[in-house]
Amino acid sequence: MKITFVGSEATPFAKTGGLADVLGSLPLYLAERGHQISLILPKHQSIIKRFNDQCEPVITLHIEGPQHESYAGIQLMKHQGIDVYFVDNEYYFGLRPQLYGDYDDGERYGFFAHAVLKTIEKVLPKTEILHLNDWQTGLIPYLLKYDAKYQSLNHIKSVFTIHNIAYQGRFSKELMPFLNTDYSNVLEFDDVINFLKTGIMTADHVTTVSPTYKDQLQHAYFAYGMQGLLKLREQSFSGIINGIDFNEFNPSKDNALKKSYTAKTVTAGKKANKKDLMETFGLKNPNLPLFGMVSRITEAKGFDLVADIIPTLVEKGIMNFVLLGSGDPYFEQTFQYFKDQYPDHFGVYFGYSDGMARQIYAGADYFLMPSRFEPCGLAQMISMRYGTLPVVHKTGGLKDTVEPFNEYTLEGTGFGFDTYQADDLKQAVLSAINVFGNQETYKLLQQRAMQEDFSWESSAHLYEQLYQSLRG
Ligand code: GLC
Repeated sequence: MKITFVGSEATPFAKTGGLADVLGSLPLYLAERGHQISLILPKHQSIIKRFNDQCEPVITLHIEGPQHESYAGIQLMKHQGIDVYFVDNEYYFGLRPQLYGDYDDGERYGFFAHAVLKTIEKVLPKTEILHLNDWQTGLIPYLLKYDAKYQSLNHIKSVFTIHNIAYQGRFSKELMPFLNTDYSNVLEFDDVINFLKTGIMTADHVTTVSPTYKDQLQHAYFAYGMQGLLKLREQSFSGIINGIDFNEFNPSKDNALKKSYTAKTVTAGKKANKKDLMETFGLKNPNLPLFGMVSRITEAKGFDLVADIIPTLVEKGIMNFVLLGSGDPYFEQTFQYFKDQYPDHFGVYFGYSDGMARQIYAGADYFLMPSRFEPCGLAQMISMRYGTLPVVHKTGGLKDTVEPFNEYTLEGTGFGFDTYQADDLKQAVLSAINVFGNQETYKLLQQRAMQEDFSWESSAHLYEQLYQSLRG
């Protein structure tokens, strides 16, 4: 099939979150299976800096704006079996250090939507499936369906994937003249223009990134206002769990690790990596279970619970803790304070380092992920691949991927708690610490977690079936 993916970020080109990992791996996997895959991205500053010399100009487009036309240079980079097209416009993308968060995001991604459809019209007219992702692409299926300029593309079927419903692309109606299309109330929600809503209502099919999150999105608590619309679309709405790139994340071939290992050699491998990780963070006492986190530091990722529980357990001398990530200054200051209090047992690094993230995946004994909500979550899958047992809030994709330990049957691949409460997290952590005292059971769980298949194999297949059914 000829499939064109569109999104705002993809590894290795630009990344702020898990969306980039998915768009950096699923298209490659589908290409390996014989499909003809293109990916269209804005040409962000990071792409100009790192990939400019690999980009070939393809065509120049002129996109109508309210006052004048804007230039869009379409460039192609061949990348691991797929064709990546960049939409180059320095004013809208190239000169901005941030991917989003500017006052004119609506205008920028409105411009991007037109540039994408014109690229498809001129360069990829044989596209059969257009797979769109998150609010930045929400206008595209609307234009495809309702805007006469794109009539020639109406054979194309569209899929719209929600990676996180909390981000919707909401803009004042003053944006309308910048969108270069006719108004209809489909664009509107709660009296403002809402790109996510537009995508949900106009794509041929809507997906989200796990079956449990799909069910949760029918409820107001999770759906940020979109529950009614998703109910409306129920017949064309499904949940498909993400995979991770099993080549990219492989403890037997990971250069960032002190020592590589397999499920067989996990005990010795982890011992060396834990020592290395503890040295990096200046921690003492390798006999204590080491809990790690790699995460954006926001309330949604469960940091209020972590701040409530973890420092007291560290103070009691029953565990060590390391955290890598950045985000909310309030939480950063809180965790800095705890690090200063317990420098031998509490480590933090504010920022991002791929190498250090891998050291944590491999060197920690447990991986903490108590997210308040989690559409899919990738880190828990990576940690299991590295034999690091996840401790998770059983929500969204975390529920679908981690089987909680059952002390009677010894089944499980990690630890879980049901209710988003500090005390429930504490019980799960204590139960993990308890199992750490029984190395035989601990190893059993580790090896089982390492054998789980979180590659794209099965999910890519589900996407293929969906594309087939849409194509008819
Ligand atoms: C978003 C979600 C995360 C998911 C990722 C990829 O970042 O918050 O749960 O894994 O998208 O779909």
